[in-house]
Amino acid sequence: MARDPGFRCSECGASHSKWSGRCEACGAWNTITEDQALTAGPGARALGARRGAAIRLTDLATQDAEPPRTDSGVAELDRVLGGGLVRASALLVGGDPGIGKSTLLLQAAARFARNGLKVIYVSGEESTAQVQMRARRLGLEKSPVILAAETALRDILTTLEAQAPDLVIIDSIQTMWADTVESAPGSVSQVRACAHELTNFAKRRGLSVIMVGHVTKEGTIAGPRVIEHMVDTVLYFEGDRGHQFRILRAVKNRFGPADEIGVFEMTGKGLAEVRNPSALFLSERGQPAPGSVVFAGIEGTRPVLCEIQALVAPAPHGQPRRSVVGWDGTRLAMILAVLEARCGLPFAGLDVYLNVAGGLRISEPAADLAVAAALVSAREDVALPETTVIFGEISLSGALRPVVQTEIRLKEAQKLGFTTAILPKAAKRLTAPGLALRQVPDLAGFVADVFGAPAAAG
Ligand code: TYD
Ligand code: MG
Repeated sequence: MARDPGFRCSECGASHSKWSGRCEACGAWNTITEDQALTAGPGARALGARRGAAIRLTDLATQDAEPPRTDSGVAELDRVLGGGLVRASALLVGGDPGIGKSTLLLQAAARFARNGLKVIYVSGEESTAQVQMRARRLGLEKSPVILAAETALRDILTTLEAQAPDLVIIDSIQTMWADTVESAPGSVSQVRACAHELTNFAKRRGLSVIMVGHVTKEGTIAGPRVIEHMVDTVLYFEGDRGHQFRILRAVKNRFGPADEIGVFEMTGKGLAEVRNPSALFLSERGQPAPGSVVFAGIEGTRPVLCEIQALVAPAPHGQPRRSVVGWDGTRLAMILAVLEARCGLPFAGLDVYLNVAGGLRISEPAADLAVAAALVSAREDVALPETTVIFGEISLSGALRPVVQTEIRLKEAQKLGFTTAILPKAAKRLTAPGLALRQVPDLAGFVADVFGAPAAAG
């Protein structure tokens, strides 16, 4: 194993083999310090010499009892947690500044407190008066949540030890300051040290800790990413600030399924649960327009219908633009290449904009066919019927592959009043009463079937 270099930038976390005044990775000045964790202390030599205690050994069959959980009563939150909050667990809730993390956690704190947990909310960003004002706006001023405004971790831990709460919320980890580490709050070493202390404390004392982490705009290196491996559960709160939808997504969960989402709506009185996300995501759809396609997706265990929008315009000069919001840019490049190679539809000389409406972020390959349909629809300036849903994976050969949970997608489409579904040919016979199924074997067949014979290059 290669030995880790001994210097680290406290801004971006990059490792360096020697000290220098300026970090080559991020360009910051005077941020490089010798990495404390990597310098061998007096204990390093003693490790081999002194005997440790015997650790507990077990087998693969004997199970510890399921950890106790507490419901918040907010179904959208409990599902993302994998069925309530687990005792003695550490969670990270990440997201852009202003997206609604503090609002969400104050509401959650109030719910958990109402369900019998002793909850302490520590704000390092706002004064107690500011948090109280938010509580009043949310109608939560009467809930038995204990509040503090503090950033000194040592004092916080001492207080927690005396108070022995069931749940503590730290808003945010970037404002916390451990006096054992020299660098400034928000730096990689501080964030790491504070998260490590809090996580250990939670495990040792049997309490749960929820840490808020801001995602830095420039990239996520100094953000919550650096502590993802320490915690049990990582949730990201996503959304488009121009929209009211907010999505809480589990990206890691030791106590439940990852990829589960909870959908909320930001209202004047805080976050409201959205029980029927498809209806919400489709509610902003206008008249059928070229480039607009409804995709029947699955998020976690739930079907979610959403609109995919594409715009194709002549690129006046130079490299044509490829701009994607809510989907993967590499995947878009692949779909464009397949459309050109297998269907004779080049996009060279054309700017391409792709957008998943409502601020949703999609990662399943099942969206390939809906994306391709939106692109062709925009290029040919032909609108698809508004009662059609589309899904399917596209392979490089241009063949369409069936996707998982087809029946659930079809059922959701039916429920929302769609009349036609276009999807890959599957080996299994599908039935969906009230829904006309158009099963196509490949992308060229799909384009011919839906758009007729489109104009080739030119
Ligand atoms: P906040 O929870 O402070 O975001 P974060 O902690 O992620 O930085 O919420 C910020 C936004 O939410 C702010 O622009 C105001 C808005 N908001 C509402 O629309 N309704 C509300 O009830 C509250 C409390 C906030
Ligand atoms: Mg906040």
